[in-house]
Amino acid sequence: MNLYRQLALLYLALSISVGVQATEQDPVEDLLRQMTLEEKIDQLSQLGVQITPTGPVINNGQLPPASINTVGSVLGAYGAEQTRQLQEQAVTQSRLHIPLLFAYDVIHGFRTIFPVPLAEAAAWDTDLAYRTARAAAIEATASGVHWTFAPMVDIARDPRWGRVVEGAGEDPFLGAAMAEAKVRGFHGAGPSDNSSMLATAKHFVTYGAAEGGRDYNGADLSERTLREVYLPPFRAAVAAGVDGIMPSFNELAGIPLHSHKALLTGVLRDEWRFDGLIVSDYNAIWELNQHGIIAVPADAARLAFTAGVDIEMASQTYRQYLPSLVRASQVSLATVDEAVRRVLKAKQRLGLFADPYRYSDEARQRANLLTPQHRALAREAAQKSIVLLKNTDALLPLPKSLRKVLVVGSLATDAESTLGPWPGVGLAADSITVLQGIRSAVDPDTEVIYLPGTAPNSEQIEDLRSIRQAARSAQVVVAVLGESANQSGEARSRTHLGLPGAQDALLRELLATGKPVVIVLMNGRPLVLSDTVAQAPALLETWFLGSETGHAVADILFGDVNPSGKLPITFARNVGQIPLYYAYKNTGRPPSGEGLYTSTYIDSPWTALYPFGFGLSYTTFSYATPHLSADRIASTDTLTVQVNVTNTGQRAGDEIVQLYLRDDVASVTRPVRQLRGFRKVHLAPGETRTVSFTLDAQDFALLDEHWRPMVEAGRFSVFVGADSTTDNQARFEVTDSRVLSGAGPSGRP
Ligand code: BGC
Repeated sequence: MNLYRQLALLYLALSISVGVQATEQDPVEDLLRQMTLEEKIDQLSQLGVQITPTGPVINNGQLPPASINTVGSVLGAYGAEQTRQLQEQAVTQSRLHIPLLFAYDVIHGFRTIFPVPLAEAAAWDTDLAYRTARAAAIEATASGVHWTFAPMVDIARDPRWGRVVEGAGEDPFLGAAMAEAKVRGFHGAGPSDNSSMLATAKHFVTYGAAEGGRDYNGADLSERTLREVYLPPFRAAVAAGVDGIMPSFNELAGIPLHSHKALLTGVLRDEWRFDGLIVSDYNAIWELNQHGIIAVPADAARLAFTAGVDIEMASQTYRQYLPSLVRASQVSLATVDEAVRRVLKAKQRLGLFADPYRYSDEARQRANLLTPQHRALAREAAQKSIVLLKNTDALLPLPKSLRKVLVVGSLATDAESTLGPWPGVGLAADSITVLQGIRSAVDPDTEVIYLPGTAPNSEQIEDLRSIRQAARSAQVVVAVLGESANQSGEARSRTHLGLPGAQDALLRELLATGKPVVIVLMNGRPLVLSDTVAQAPALLETWFLGSETGHAVADILFGDVNPSGKLPITFARNVGQIPLYYAYKNTGRPPSGEGLYTSTYIDSPWTALYPFGFGLSYTTFSYATPHLSADRIASTDTLTVQVNVTNTGQRAGDEIVQLYLRDDVASVTRPVRQLRGFRKVHLAPGETRTVSFTLDAQDFALLDEHWRPMVEAGRFSVFVGADSTTDNQARFEVTDSRVLSGAGPSGRP
């Protein structure tokens, strides 16, 4: 053997031994080497359980309880003690002692419930979104939970769809900002801290575009709309380091998302380099059968897995079919190993190999749930999420020293509904109702009378005579109207978006007394507000605000807090206008009030009742014309937009200043305007502040016909104002065209 060959062999031997040493120290690779195929596939299975007084029960009922010990993750288990017990079983009774991951839907709070996501988006406050996610993570992790299926970042432009309530509304830019803040909030300082939890952006993608607004229904939309509208919030979540992505139940243009290789592998893995977990939605892999694309049962597992879904939630087709599919070489073992590696790495990141009980700590649980700090945060978040839609003759705020107030509507005492449709482990008993909030806010001499009148799910008005009488003798009537929590959320699509039941009729009775009526709306979606509602002088949109609902509503009603929320979604005048959103295209015959042959309706205005970005305050603000740092810029330059905003009223207040951009002439049609910035400013009466925005190529860019992000030379209009209809504008020109190297994550192409 010549010297050269000897040296080469020595080098090879050394590098192998170094390699073995390195992997031997890595528990993930170590485990992978020892696992049987069945054990690997178990790691790719997630069982849904319910915690009952006698122990956990597996949701599909057909599996022996011991199955929990060997799967990779469990959905629905919580509680320091319960998760400790389950974990102990798993690590002692499974052959390789692999700890479980505990997953839970921590959507807008765990025990302390914060405003529903749509409400919180109305605060336009990423710091707040971060802090509420952080608080939720602190509570959930103290209760043994490692992993949440949030944030939901689906864009929703159809309020018939009940899950509008779970997202940030209609706009990709605002949606991306919220997605990013939420992911950061769930993570906190990262896995070195045991209050850091894994986050999942869902539902990938176009779930909110369900035809007819009917839940689970298919979507069929262009690649441009997919890329410009529906993908950006997911992209932002991935850029923020989200740990998981959940595909959506629906199909997109003929392909169910759970078998959509081009999106799950093509876009997520290859284009965006996402290397986290792709976890199915509940039973959705089995449901591929119902989509009609499965010939033999094993196809569901094969299609979902080869499309890119790592983990199967609830249904068990992976456990049933993947082993034989691998043995028949229809699914590659290397791909199985990759998926298992991702699961094990997530456990490793959370420190569960070192300490499987790291998140199951009773003392921490006792100290961290529903703390005064979290309640205070819930109140702050709720105050900031309320949107004042109407306030004729400054009826609001009400004085606390009223002689008599009548509160009407069963929602005023419906503690369950304050929590919204996805309340974690929040308890109605811990929630402050609107009536309680009002009672605790008014002066002791103020008489508060409560009569339920009607409930959202009832066609009856109870005790109308007493209501009329009480209204006549009251100085003001507060009508709490809207939806109960179970009228929005998953599988709660509606075709009539007015106030359900007899609430409009009740309102008519109240208005007929001639007394001032303040409507407090509770709902999970933009409602279509009737002509009767339009007659009320004051209207507050309060959504479902969580544990501190009543206090926050009273804080606004009686003026301790000045409302500052702005709508994250358009309110249509009628269902026939839907979908209606501010970032529409102009058409060749732009809608206008004049002339027949424009893009309007003959039986309804085409405009919104309340536009995106709209919300009033107890003070007023004025905007000066925006000042631009230049009229002409190169595509590599930034542009500074400055606008002076003045509080022209008598009270201090917060204003959410919004910046919209329009590419006036482009190679593809552009929306009439797109949100590209927002800032909240606090202004004392009479105070003026200069609000600055910096725009760059990512803001000016569009996707060209080859899907390349590029800036095109030409004229742009920039609008800065109080909502998406503002006319306060300036213009500039970009002097050159340029293709950008990477797509931007923040709601920009
Ligand atoms: C929902 C998901 C949720 C899952 C687990 C499904 O019905 O679509 O959003 O994460 O259940 O609870």
